[in-house]
Amino acid sequence: MKVIRTIAELRQELSLKRQSIQSRESVVGLVPTMGFLHDGHASLMQAAKQQSDIVVLSIFVNPIQFGPNEDFDSYPRDEARDVETARAKGVDIVFIPSVEEMYPQPTQTTVSVSRLTDRLCGASRPGHFDGVTTVVSKLFNIVQPQRAFFGMKDAQQVAVIQQMVNDLNMAVEIVPCPIVRESDGLALSSRNVYLSTEQRQEALVLSKALREAQEAVDAGTALTAADIRGILRQNIERSRMAVIDYAEIQAFPSLEPLADQEKVHGRDDLLIALAVKFGKTRLIDNIRLQKS
Ligand code: PAJ
Repeated sequence: MKVIRTIAELRQELSLKRQSIQSRESVVGLVPTMGFLHDGHASLMQAAKQQSDIVVLSIFVNPIQFGPNEDFDSYPRDEARDVETARAKGVDIVFIPSVEEMYPQPTQTTVSVSRLTDRLCGASRPGHFDGVTTVVSKLFNIVQPQRAFFGMKDAQQVAVIQQMVNDLNMAVEIVPCPIVRESDGLALSSRNVYLSTEQRQEALVLSKALREAQEAVDAGTALTAADIRGILRQNIERSRMAVIDYAEIQAFPSLEPLADQEKVHGRDDLLIALAVKFGKTRLIDNIRLQKS
């Protein structure tokens, strides 16, 4: 496995690797991350390994997707451990550029997806998705992958990136991968390390709220979107520490919100998404509703 820090060296290495796989067109799989890797990231690397000939993992804490009062400076980092994780997962190239390498001069070009980014995380984190789509476009241009792997943990991010790829005719297949959870239900996140023991315990209300919503749908009653929103809020408000940013039900991937009176039964395109703050830490989680 190679650890590469510059764009020029990465391009050279990829061109050598592509040439060495002569049997057919080689598939480069890209897993973009901000590091501090956990089993959620590992599942993306595993999927990439299965579906590509050459796996590139990028680790870059992207300053332009953080707001001025967000955690860019304190975002957890552990490069040595990340490199070992990547090696163990069979990654071929780890790309770890510096901020100067990715943004040598102030950028004057932003890739911006409209509408889809107005809601949910986009509403509470202005500019965030512009930062994500801009850096992901740069990574796609640098690596030129045939496939790129993203976690459904960030479902809105998947929808936004797929929209960008469609709109701009990017020749890359977006592969969404399922959410990986702790055994007690908490979705893995690099930001979970910010939680105190008590907050960590209370954070279980997120996955519990999602489970209860699914169970209510399974119970076969004629639930409306308002009922689902009620179930979510009731569950989350069981934690005194939880401050709800949003608890929403919408179509996926359009992210069109459901009107309160709309029925959820019989639909297989629905996403329930939560963002909840515990102290300064904002956690997100979601579930694709299974039709019953
Ligand atoms: P980061 O938060 O490091 O996440 C990298 C990838 O791992 C994302 O696709 C995310 O959805 C996925 N992931 C995180 N937790 C997961 C979990 N519990 N289960 C499954 N997948 C999980 O998302 C970003 O970085 C950045 O916005 C990035 C796309 C790299 C652009 O800077």
